[in-house]
Amino acid sequence: MTADLFETVPGVRPSREAMADGAVLLRGFALPSESDVIGALREIIAQAPFRRMFTPGGHQMSVAMTNCGSAGWVTDHSGYRYDGIDPDSGKPWPSMPPAFRELAVRAATAGGFENFAPDACLINRYTPGARMSLHQDKDEQDFAAPIVSVSLGLPAIFLFGSPKRADKPRRYRLEHGDVVVWGGPSRLFFHGVAPLAEGEHVLMGRQRINLTFRKAR
Ligand code: SIN
Ligand code: FE2
Repeated sequence: MTADLFETVPGVRPSREAMADGAVLLRGFALPSESDVIGALREIIAQAPFRRMFTPGGHQMSVAMTNCGSAGWVTDHSGYRYDGIDPDSGKPWPSMPPAFRELAVRAATAGGFENFAPDACLINRYTPGARMSLHQDKDEQDFAAPIVSVSLGLPAIFLFGSPKRADKPRRYRLEHGDVVVWGGPSRLFFHGVAPLAEGEHVLMGRQRINLTFRKAR
């Protein structure tokens, strides 16, 4: 069944939902690539296992992270930055698999952003209770490229606000296969993830994995 068919079913949420100017939720967009993406993910985490990093303030994040691509997002006592080297292994991050890149580029195009050329994919793993507080993605060198975010596994509540931290964010339920693209006027909007609820996903188990594609450099 294609995602478009859902649009015609009464009571079912639309496959495409505008979130803000420049931001769109593409429900089920990653489902056709699901097995290739999950297979590639397994290879990445065998080379660069998930780890819970520390914020510059010394707080250990509840979300475990790893990266693929020529640049990886890292945080430690000295700050947030992109680095080509995995600090745990001393080796470059695993390269970005074609299945990842192709999905990200197709989603960016569907979101209205052509010629997306991601060089970084931050991979977040949430277990029940893990959360990500409201933040802006602003460690990238230029903000012309969008952010493409792919959700796998357990559902989560994604918080999507505005350019002002104090504005109350809207809440969107993101399920396995959903993709969010934000850029242009909403590129620097605050966003986060509410504490993950307990559950067991048929393919992914007791976790949510989020792939966040960026053009970092
Ligand atoms: C992030 O902002 O890096 C993660 C968003 C998500 O997990 O959906
Ligand atoms: Fe983010």
